[in-house]
Amino acid sequence: MNILHMTSEIHPLIKTGGLADVSRSLPVALQSLGENIRLFVPGYRNLLAALNDTHEVMDSFPYGVLPAKARLLAADLPGSSIPLWILDCPALFDRGGGPYQDDEGQDWPDNPLRFGAFCRAAAWLVQNQHPSILDWSIDLLHCHDWQTALTPALLKFWHCPVPTVLTIHNLAFQGNFSASWINTLGLPAQEFHLESLEFHGQLSFLKAGLVHADAITTVSPRYAREIQTPQMGCGLDGLLRHRSAALSGILNGIDELWCPDNDPHLTHHYNITKKAPKALNKAHLQQRLGLEVSPQAFLVGLVSRLTLQKGIDLVLDSLDDMLADKSVQLVVLGSGDLDMERRLAHWNSRKPDQVHIALGFNEVLSHQIIAGADLFLMPSRFEPCGLAQMYAMTYGTPPLVHHTGGLADTVTPYQPEISPRRQQGTGFVFETAHSYELKSCFKIAKSCFHNPVEWNKVVHNAMKKSFRWDRAAQEYQILYNKLLKLT
Ligand code: ADP
Ligand code: GLC
Repeated sequence: MNILHMTSEIHPLIKTGGLADVSRSLPVALQSLGENIRLFVPGYRNLLAALNDTHEVMDSFPYGVLPAKARLLAADLPGSSIPLWILDCPALFDRGGGPYQDDEGQDWPDNPLRFGAFCRAAAWLVQNQHPSILDWSIDLLHCHDWQTALTPALLKFWHCPVPTVLTIHNLAFQGNFSASWINTLGLPAQEFHLESLEFHGQLSFLKAGLVHADAITTVSPRYAREIQTPQMGCGLDGLLRHRSAALSGILNGIDELWCPDNDPHLTHHYNITKKAPKALNKAHLQQRLGLEVSPQAFLVGLVSRLTLQKGIDLVLDSLDDMLADKSVQLVVLGSGDLDMERRLAHWNSRKPDQVHIALGFNEVLSHQIIAGADLFLMPSRFEPCGLAQMYAMTYGTPPLVHHTGGLADTVTPYQPEISPRRQQGTGFVFETAHSYELKSCFKIAKSCFHNPVEWNKVVHNAMKKSFRWDRAAQEYQILYNKLLKLT
């Protein structure tokens, strides 16, 4: 079947987080199951600059579809044979900064117009499948996150029969904007009510999708349950409970690009039967970042967006305690909240022998930290799925995580009372999002590290775990078949 995925991020062209990784690897996995997949993405300046070869499919959209002059371009997603369709609309996407924010970290004020236009363009392509316009017909549309979520609503308003799936990668980002955008985006005013586009007096892109998509998925089974509770439903739990028959949780996989045996960013390759070179990656990381090169040091890595979601404040509140032990080294790579960046950078100057803080986005360093660290910190307050902890386990770097969402679904807790022989643990898990729990869990991880028999067993269990995409892709395929009434 022909499935169009629409997404606002795509690895390796434009990425702020895990959405970019999933937007590449899920289509690749579906393609290997025999599905015919295309991707639709906004033509950001950086994305177009990273593509060598694009060609024009449509030189314009009909008058009134979009708020500014736009073309439809096509290219292949680098490193794959997935065709990309690109909305080239310079007035909305040809600018510096990131996909959602300017260089100062402020949301672009015209985001509703930018992503509203992206949704209108997608809906128009789905509805106008005439061979004289497009060489490819769309059987089903799969949308990802709020930036795409108006599309299922538009298709319903336009009485288009093509089924839609909306995947929630993070319910906390909803795309809620002033009601005045209804008019500007050409949305039917009569749909601005509680059971359609309205959320607390605002226009909500995500709510529109949750109401109108034929199926809703999210990225782990536990998060699918959590978002139906008032504590974690971000105000949308009532609607999600109402739509529970259409909602399912499908755990993400990880891309084969993340493999310690052939990762081009690593100085030394290793695998579950040849683990020794992992230590050489640790030494290389320590040397590269100006830390003492010591196999005995307990090297802790963190690669993350720096936000409250990721529990970075819990880490900050624990550092005094964790770093009191001189054998602990900490490497952080991240960017985000300016106050968190400043507080982390402070530790750089306070304990330069033990701490290295790298602010910014750095794909190569992220791989080197995940491979070179002993322990990977990911104490997220909530986590829809989380990819970084799965990368860490695959790379033999047990994660320390909070028991929530996809972290709880993927990390098996180490149990100190169980002998190494019977130990199933793949990482270290604490129950409540408090720094005192993080600190005591860290102590357990550290004492495990100092007991090589126990530590090696946890590393081995972690590397043995399989997070393959084919399992998840099969679950999506079953869902698609159901929507298309093929089963
Ligand atoms: P989220 O999507 O919520 O940020 P995930 O764990 O699903 O969390 O995905 C995060 C992805 O972004 C991982 O691939 C991680 O390695 C990467 N990442 C996060 N911050 C950085 C950074 N500063 N530099 C490089 N990669 C980063
Ligand atoms: C979001 C979530 C993260 C998830 C990623 C990919 O960014 O915060 O938990 O892994 O999307 O689905």
